[in-house]
Amino acid sequence: MHLASTMAVVAALLIGSGGLVTAATTVDGTAIADEKSGANWLSYGRTYSEQRYSPLKQITAANIGGLGVAWFMDLPGQKSLLSTPLVVDGILYFSGSYSVVFAIDIRTGKKLWTYDPKTIDAAGDRLRVMWDSNRGISYWKGRIFVATADGRLNAIDAATGAEIWSTMTVDPKLPYFINGAPRVFNDKVVIGNGGTEWGPLRGYVTAYDTATGKQVWRFYTVPGNPADGFEDDTQAMAAKTWRGEWWKHGGGGTVWNGLTYDPQFNRIYLGTGNGSPWNQRIRSPGGGDNLFLCAVVALDADTGKYVWHYQTTPGETWDYNSNMDMVLADLTIKGKPVKALLHAPKNGFFYVIDRATGKLVSAEKIGRVTWAERVDAKTGRPVEAKGARYEDGEELIYPSAFGVHNWHAMSFNPDTGLVYIPTIDVPGMFSDKGIKPKLWDSPSFQFDPGVDLMRDDLPLKIDAGALVAWDPVKQQKVWEQKLPGVWNPGTLTTGGNLVFEGRTDGKLLAYRATDGIPLWSTDVGLGVSAPPITFEVDGKQYVALLTGWGGAGVSMAGAITAQHGWAYGAQTRRLIVYALDGTTALPKSPPPQFAQALAQDDFKVDAMQAEQGSYLFLKNCVTCHGGGAVSGGYAPDLRASQAAVYDEAFKEIVVGGSRRQQGMPGFKELSDADLKAMQHYLRRQARKATTAAQLGK
Ligand code: HEC
Repeated sequence: MHLASTMAVVAALLIGSGGLVTAATTVDGTAIADEKSGANWLSYGRTYSEQRYSPLKQITAANIGGLGVAWFMDLPGQKSLLSTPLVVDGILYFSGSYSVVFAIDIRTGKKLWTYDPKTIDAAGDRLRVMWDSNRGISYWKGRIFVATADGRLNAIDAATGAEIWSTMTVDPKLPYFINGAPRVFNDKVVIGNGGTEWGPLRGYVTAYDTATGKQVWRFYTVPGNPADGFEDDTQAMAAKTWRGEWWKHGGGGTVWNGLTYDPQFNRIYLGTGNGSPWNQRIRSPGGGDNLFLCAVVALDADTGKYVWHYQTTPGETWDYNSNMDMVLADLTIKGKPVKALLHAPKNGFFYVIDRATGKLVSAEKIGRVTWAERVDAKTGRPVEAKGARYEDGEELIYPSAFGVHNWHAMSFNPDTGLVYIPTIDVPGMFSDKGIKPKLWDSPSFQFDPGVDLMRDDLPLKIDAGALVAWDPVKQQKVWEQKLPGVWNPGTLTTGGNLVFEGRTDGKLLAYRATDGIPLWSTDVGLGVSAPPITFEVDGKQYVALLTGWGGAGVSMAGAITAQHGWAYGAQTRRLIVYALDGTTALPKSPPPQFAQALAQDDFKVDAMQAEQGSYLFLKNCVTCHGGGAVSGGYAPDLRASQAAVYDEAFKEIVVGGSRRQQGMPGFKELSDADLKAMQHYLRRQARKATTAAQLGK
């Protein structure tokens, strides 16, 4: 293995299972900051810079043709797999569905241990606001940290998988959930949360002591009720940018994904979330910037005190959050060195921010964007297009709430100087039709962003994704490759002049980093939602990938993700490990399957009841069973469900909660009339879609 010159913190010698004497790495701040050693993958974005760039160059653009499967592991019982694995001294760790953590010996391909935090048992009613997915873990001095969807942060022993401590980070009575990866620095572990669409939530980030799990600091991303007194001057400053009684709606701003630690400034950057609710006319009537929604906020890492912020979408009203990753890179712009923070939030602009000051260096559109014309270089503020706030009624706007770029991580290659970004080109229809801002009340444990959306199906066939290689210095596209579907995963780039990315259609590709020529492609049997990683064991470079279709696009986007045929539970979930001399044959996964919607001809659809059912479905079911009742594969397609046709079976599952252990929550409050209305809605959608489902093949 490589030992980096700067690192060389050798704690002990141990005998690796391959029989070789290996120096054990102490995973601390020095090790995680080390860009030069490629053997391990120690943090979510590999190193603190979150570049997802590995200097390894055994696998190159010249020899990639020889890449094959070294070994694979089937993962029965797993569903969504989104996580970035970590590798420490020949052991690979990852979090799977419901935050179950796996430790696997790379030399033997054998499982060493698993850790199950029993998330479903702990979730209570919050089972309905969360998905099974988890994006990753962190590692610090022999401990692994994993957050659970029900809001715990747990420390486990990396050697045994035994739990060391567990801390509840949220008020379990509120619909907070966590699926993001914690970050570690200075013996502290930091975590945010999500859930703003399900109730009146106030976002925050908390740092805990890695040894004890005790809270060190907490930073709120939006101000609370002034009557309670503000926590500090920063909150008072933020409150000046809000109107009305925002605290009743929570405000939002949850930090559910992007967190970057900067060792050079000893700061943590937060990528903050959208408003709660999205619709600003409800949240903050009369406008205002609504700090710190949709922003990058820099905090002192030891105290959690505010340093600077840059807001990407002032007064947001479209769910254009800034939760996407923030990559640190040293660039030369107009002849001057810039310690840059690179950020491509949902709103479609690519931002270069000077992280010493928080000032905008430049911002340009990376995809189709109609809500704003440009970002004004002087003020650093977007110039909005007329009608963009759907103030004149229904408005078709680019991008949709899925963004031009979502949480699927980008990567930055210092050799090519390019950023590799998975992008989406889909519009959203925004309106507050039927919503009376003054009367709107944020319901808890129901999906309601204060915008009229997703009760109907979106177009069936959408191929509107692209892998974009972006020059952050010139702020322009260098190359682009069209991708199938829209919900394509994060990227990896290497010193071998390569970019790796999985795809929605069940393929993993490698491109030449400089010009985007596809060099290698392999079938993995299921849509990919996780980013690949690379590492080295006993002098050999490997690439590893988890296959398990998941995330909000899969659970909510309906036909957009259903088009691939990755039906609920149908295809095999796997960890696949590739190497240059790999010759293992990957067994075929079951083929794509498309829902055969039941027409149920004797059922007479009542238009009024179906319309009523559409609202119930939107508030309670859409986040798992899909927009327009078309399942993208996260849960069964209810248009095709026999159980949804029979009153008793329907009630036992939906009200009785008989499938809870499989992730289907119970809804005790739903009446027989509610169930009936949803059946009318499902039948309406089923008949509409019978032809669509056939088209899908
Ligand atoms: C948090 C995610 C989630 C939510 C919210 C949710 N479901 Fe489910 N549902 C699931 C999952 C996962 C399954 C599959 C369970 C299994 O494997 O048996 C399921 C299964 C079902 C089934 C059984 C389907 C079959 O044919 O086996 C029905 C019916 C159903 N859900 C109806 C609903 C209704 C109606 C709502 C809203 C009131 C709802 N669900 C909300 C996740 C969810």
